[in-house]
Amino acid sequence: MTKMKVLFDTDPGVDDAMALLLLARHPRIALLGVTTVFGNASLDQVVFNALYLKDQYGFSAPVARGAGLPLVVAPGEPPAFVHGDNGLGDIPLPVRNVARADMIPAHQLIIKLVRAHPHEITIIAVGRMTNLAQALAEDPGIAPLVKQVVIMGGAFGYNGHCGNVTAVAEANIIGDPHAANLVLAADWPVAMVGLDVTMETVMSDQYLSDLATTGDDGTFVRKVSHGYQDFHRKTINLDGFPVHDSSAVAYALHPEFFETIDRPVRVIDHGDSIGQTLAKPEGHDAESCDWAGRPKIRVCRGVDSEAVLNLYRQTLTGRGV
Ligand code: BDR
Ligand code: CA
Repeated sequence: MTKMKVLFDTDPGVDDAMALLLLARHPRIALLGVTTVFGNASLDQVVFNALYLKDQYGFSAPVARGAGLPLVVAPGEPPAFVHGDNGLGDIPLPVRNVARADMIPAHQLIIKLVRAHPHEITIIAVGRMTNLAQALAEDPGIAPLVKQVVIMGGAFGYNGHCGNVTAVAEANIIGDPHAANLVLAADWPVAMVGLDVTMETVMSDQYLSDLATTGDDGTFVRKVSHGYQDFHRKTINLDGFPVHDSSAVAYALHPEFFETIDRPVRVIDHGDSIGQTLAKPEGHDAESCDWAGRPKIRVCRGVDSEAVLNLYRQTLTGRGV
């Protein structure tokens, strides 16, 4: 079986931890690197969490420390009300981890892995895109050497889903809109798995209870996501929680689960609408418009939610394909 070589850029984060588990357990994934970025918790905390997950899940890929601040905008407070004070739903964490962070910074690990495996690396980015933007700035030549970039981020209003931080902005984009703009303008194939589809796939309380009976991985998912589930019940009256970061992994493995449209995309980087992702309207073909020179991005606008939920459950129970 040819494995998909994956670099995972992440801010663990409850749903990041769940996506990393999917990557660690799926038989078709070769996880080559994990790069961390500030977001769901401080940089120190997300590095600690990624190393904890490395010990917990038993993967061998290096974990690198990445950006602690956005490129231009002021950093926001970490969303402890969503992911807990420690970013992992306030489950008890050890005082120290066995695993150690890689010697080189995240953006350089990205460059190193892409250069070592030209045209083979799939980057799955589920946090602020600051590390990717820094890698592009240091070595712009990597872009055409990347097989694909799959992003969890953005929202285009499909299925009625717009922002989750403001009315129009999703967290990973508004957290560093300038970095997102650079990533969406670069010469690499990008797929965006935004709120339009991640909000459509929900792990219900029943799904999570059933998963918890399947073994240690399912029990861990149940444990780490308690507070996260509570947050979604209290704020949007959901039975369970939406599947954000694992949907990006699902797309990388099974793009056929998703319905897509190809449009150039830009990010509003100032003013009231900061963080909004805008796809060039269909039929608007003027050369001198705001999307001029931007490549087409594959935007997900529909999803087979059952298929995504089955993939997650089957992978954790050793039946993933
Ligand atoms: C995204 O923001 C973070 O809180 C989650 O981990 C996910 O990547 C959802 O908007
Ligand atoms: Ca994330």
